[in-house]
Amino acid sequence: MRRRIIAGNWKMHNNLSESQNLVTKLVNELNNQNINREVIICPPFTSLTEVSNLLDGTKIELGAQNMHFEDKGAFTGEISADMLKSVGCKYVILGHSERRTIFGESDEIINKKIKQALNAGLIPIFCMGETLEQREDGITNDVINNQVSEGIKELSEEDVNKIIIAYEPIWAIGTGKTATPEQAQEVHKFIRSLLRENFSENTSQNIPILYGGSVKPNNAEDILAKEDIDGALVGGACLDTDSFVSIIKA
Ligand code: 13P
Repeated sequence: MRRRIIAGNWKMHNNLSESQNLVTKLVNELNNQNINREVIICPPFTSLTEVSNLLDGTKIELGAQNMHFEDKGAFTGEISADMLKSVGCKYVILGHSERRTIFGESDEIINKKIKQALNAGLIPIFCMGETLEQREDGITNDVINNQVSEGIKELSEEDVNKIIIAYEPIWAIGTGKTATPEQAQEVHKFIRSLLRENFSENTSQNIPILYGGSVKPNNAEDILAKEDIDGALVGGACLDTDSFVSIIKA
């Protein structure tokens, strides 16, 4: 049985005290509840240490939203895998469309970051997705195929088995437009077929594939019910404890 995961990407939200409040509420809400999904939260860098302390002794796990691909050095403003590990991160979101489109991250950079994260013992949450134009042009599968093969290029099957994939159609991020459960399932199934072709049936069945893009309490259940959808990467709705908890329980 594949892992079931709900991850929250806070993006550039919450200063230190807001982070403390949000995490404290979340921990209280989930405390003593029988949750059959793994929960990961990815706050901004400045809150990681404090959130890590607040999560200590809970089942909620910590991730970061980005990192650099080098070990260390003269890279002003960047954060290394070792730094993330040292504050308690287990996961790191890589290849998010906002990094690709706003900050110009190429597939090559994302591939380097994925390798570096794995070398350091962090688990990448590797994101991919097509634009609306690409979907309308009927090239979604080509785009996904390219992002998958470039992103995990030169990785061993053992390493590939450690990663989590997140399919996030760009047109559904922050727009309130969700992919229908059928549209999402179709792409998830396609990603699994790529993993089968490139590696093996075992690998394709083992890797959790999350859906992201306007996941809300009112659509989570239908999306999460699909066969190849193993969880969600939630943006906006994870900033509100009630919404996030209701998605976790969906
Ligand atoms: P929204 O849930 O706000 O659409 O964001 C999705 C996302 O980008 C998560 O990484």
